[in-house]
Amino acid sequence: MTAYSSTLLPTYAPYPFPIATGEREYVVDAAGNRWLDFYGGHCVASTGHCHPAVATAIAEQVHKLIFYSAAAQLPVRDAAAAALVEFAGNSMASVFFCNSGAEANENALKIAVKLTGRRKFAAFQGAFHGRTLLALSVTDAPKLRKDFDSLLAPVDFLPFGDATALAAADFSDRAAVIVEPIQSMAGVKTAGSAWFAALRDKCTQSGALLIFDEVQTGIGRLGAPFAANLYGVAPDIITCAKGMASGVPMGGVLMRTDIAAALKPGDLGSTFGGGPLACAALIATLKVINDENLMAHAHALAQHIRANMHGVVREVRGTGLLLGLEAGAQAKALKAHLFDRHILVGGSDDPAVLRLMPPLNVSTVAAELLLDGVGEFGAREAA
Ligand SMILES: Cc1ncc(COP(=O)(O)O)c(C=O)c1O
Repeated sequence: MTAYSSTLLPTYAPYPFPIATGEREYVVDAAGNRWLDFYGGHCVASTGHCHPAVATAIAEQVHKLIFYSAAAQLPVRDAAAAALVEFAGNSMASVFFCNSGAEANENALKIAVKLTGRRKFAAFQGAFHGRTLLALSVTDAPKLRKDFDSLLAPVDFLPFGDATALAAADFSDRAAVIVEPIQSMAGVKTAGSAWFAALRDKCTQSGALLIFDEVQTGIGRLGAPFAANLYGVAPDIITCAKGMASGVPMGGVLMRTDIAAALKPGDLGSTFGGGPLACAALIATLKVINDENLMAHAHALAQHIRANMHGVVREVRGTGLLLGLEAGAQAKALKAHLFDRHILVGGSDDPAVLRLMPPLNVSTVAAELLLDGVGEFGAREAA
């Protein structure tokens, strides 16, 4: 079988097997082999693959109403917004629904321009915020930016987590500062809550909006609803996507009351944003996370993985179930070894760091299989 059908534009180098079905933390290939999914379909399968409660909610909604745009009031959309705002806490009062992480960031940055009248942004070295033009403007990836330079908005990239650089920065002409609370693609890089508090202060003093891009860190992944809750920092805007509807495409821009009050109907829009299927899936996803105590589970399982990861993994980075395994020059071979054992993990822009972003309900048994796989590789390398 070819890697891609000739009609499908190649984007990623796909796994060398087609996935047929999924159940909880496993996907099953066309030959019936099970693969343990610590990659989570790129951090998306928050409640696992095909959680029965999410599947039922989507199926029931399909038979009621597949779609109507924001031109109509839909009870399921109102309920989804209320559920997400309640889940987020942290002074978030309204949400704009869209369809992806890039679209959420694009809209958050546009809101900042509209409210401040400023045209420049600040972001951080190593950041990934998406591929649409404003999201790409604040993304520090030269290979993605190079063909579009003249179309991108002015941005300064500061060192992430660097208190001295932050103290020296001037945001007085910046519409917004956008930050991933954990820089996932860059290699699961973290910064302390004191640094985020200083960033909050600096934005407040200079009148720049603080946007937390929680596309990966949000919706319970870190063992808290959002990183903002975990760090005790209140951003002006939080963006989310990926796991929020367990894999049904959805993005969200959460904002404070005063920001929502400054926007009027027509300022933001998206035909498919907040569609009934995504809203039903979001409500079910949040209910599963709460009912099954998945935030506490994510926290406990991460502690277990961290405590028992030895050998070639020199450092376990990250929080909750967004973890980076620093394995130096052996990272690539470790990934291949795990693959041979039917365990999928992610890579990152740092060739020494592998990423774990499994479903939040990944089992302890699965964690043991991962730990065994890493241990076996270490023993083989040491022999
Ligand atoms: C932190 C972060 N922000 C934004 C995006 C863009 O999301 P999407 O691919 O849904 O546009 C991603 C995607 O990986 C991401 O990791």
